[in-house]
Amino acid sequence: MTVCICQNVTLDDVVDLVEKYGNDPEIIKAKADIGKGCGECLETSCDSINLPFPYAIMNAEAILKQQ
Ligand code: FES
Repeated sequence: MTVCICQNVTLDDVVDLVEKYGNDPEIIKAKADIGKGCGECLETSCDSINLPFPYAIMNAEAILKQQ
């Protein structure tokens, strides 16, 4: 599931980053350069991304809690 097209970041990548660095969105964005292209992935209303970044963080936390 794509989170950021410009930086080719998937939900699996976000899960790995949250597991490694915690759930601070600013840290996760910086580690993967999320939002450093068009910036659309940072908007919850974006239609061109499978899972905009704000929701990806929440999903990653839920996935990690289930493990
Ligand atoms: S989709 Fe993330 S910066 Fe363009």
